[in-house]
Amino acid sequence: MSRSFLFLVLALVSCELFAQVGDRAHGKEVYEHWCSSCHAPGARKHPGTSALEFIYKGEKSGVLEERLDLTPELVALFVRNGVKIMPPFRKTEISDKDLLDLGAYLSPQR
Ligand code: HEC
Repeated sequence: MSRSFLFLVLALVSCELFAQVGDRAHGKEVYEHWCSSCHAPGARKHPGTSALEFIYKGEKSGVLEERLDLTPELVALFVRNGVKIMPPFRKTEISDKDLLDLGAYLSPQR
């Protein structure tokens, strides 16, 4: 196997790894722009927090950033489909990369 071929394989593998991980710092920016208006702490001012506090009744936090059970897959499902008053977000609003970062931000670090 030639050395340049090996480098190519290494480069592809590391791209794949980076693509999977998600940039949590950028995810926080995406969250603050698109989600915190409904999901920030304070149920009276934030309909997402209010609805989730009602649903979980203290079993889980009503604030998404405090949840320990969210996964990137679950976040993506809700963001692309919406639920009740939460709108679905299009790729022109939240790109797939933004969504990956957002999922990483809202999921507990593994
Ligand atoms: C217009 C307000 C609004 C915005 C903006 C919004 N949401 Fe929501 N979201 C809600 C409401 C309300 C619910 C609860 C719906 C229900 O009653 O099941 C919810 C539910 C969710 C849930 C499901 C949690 C669970 O345990 O059932 C997730 C995950 C979620 N939102 C993520 C997000 C993310 C990420 C964003 C930003 C991209 C976002 N939401 C933006 C209002 C909003």
